[in-house]
Amino acid sequence: MTVANMSANTAALQIDGLHKRFGSRLVLDGFGLQVARGEVVGLLGPNGCGKSTVLNIVCQLLQADAGQVQLMGEPLHQPGARARVGLCAQDCALYPDLLPAENLHFFARLHGLPAAQRHARVAQLMDRFGLGPHAATRVGRLSGGWQQRLHLAVALVHSPQLLVLDEPTAAVDVAARLDLWRLIDGLREAGTTILLTTHQLAEAEHLCNRVALMQGGRVVAQGSVPELLARVPGQAVARLQSRDSAATVQRAQRLGWAVRQRAGQLSCLLPRHFSLREVVDALDGPEVSAVSVQALTLEDAYLEVVGDGAGLA
Ligand SMILES: Nc1ncnc2c1ncn2[C@@H]1O[C@H](COP(=O)(O)OP(=O)(O)OP(=O)(O)O)[C@@H](O)[C@H]1O
Ligand SMILES: [Mg+2]
Repeated sequence: MTVANMSANTAALQIDGLHKRFGSRLVLDGFGLQVARGEVVGLLGPNGCGKSTVLNIVCQLLQADAGQVQLMGEPLHQPGARARVGLCAQDCALYPDLLPAENLHFFARLHGLPAAQRHARVAQLMDRFGLGPHAATRVGRLSGGWQQRLHLAVALVHSPQLLVLDEPTAAVDVAARLDLWRLIDGLREAGTTILLTTHQLAEAEHLCNRVALMQGGRVVAQGSVPELLARVPGQAVARLQSRDSAATVQRAQRLGWAVRQRAGQLSCLLPRHFSLREVVDALDGPEVSAVSVQALTLEDAYLEVVGDGAGLA
């Protein structure tokens, strides 16, 4: 193998055996994850499971107690490593009293871009992110969606090799979310390597090549969406409303269907793709008041692997 193709095969991000404790609380317990070049990987898990902690370690805002992180095959502590990563943190880091281009200039200067390069890069990002019509608006007066767009542009200002997005669409409305998805899709198509977190499973399904599910301080399952769906003991799901859940559960179990009850919602995992009529006929109970048959989604796989937290204190 030549040096050139050896480096092309190296993962963009390789994380092994991360441990991190805050006081008495062990947050990361042997966390490992690999992100290939050009891949978009989503890190999912319940609130407080340690997603932002992982991202902050990757961006060198936090130090791990143990474990290794390699970026493009080089250890994180090498000089210049921080410049290889662009972070869109969970809390927006923009200056509200500055204009969009002034924010971009500020962060470009922070990354040490020489003046000529800085001016060209800011102009390019203003254009690419469609910020022109808002050029004269102070950032604090932009809508949440436009602020997040600018936040994304700021994370890219120094042309990082890895883009890290911590809940990039958490605080925006549906239209802005779709708009940000289009931007992130564009980045992915241009070959940008991205590690992101989100609580929106539809977002992970849409944006990510691969998803890692986190629990207990480590990755407990990972793969493409179809690979994760294969962990669900069913081919489709019937969502039901019933006036007598116990009777319906019993009937479904007699049919050999796995039943899940979460947040008052009754779901049956079907062994094949049944029609609505087949499900209604099979259940054949007057207590069932509504049925819909749906394809499995990432949410079904997530609940199967991570659960709904109902057991938590
Ligand atoms: N600087 C800190 N000092 C003490 N505890 C911390 C610190 N940062 C995070 N924690 C704790 O570590 C745990 C993991 O936090 P983290 O922010 O990584 O979770 P998360 O998965 O990103 O959660 P969310 O989905 O809510 O953003 C939480 O219990 C949090 O309170
Ligand atoms: Mg977080």
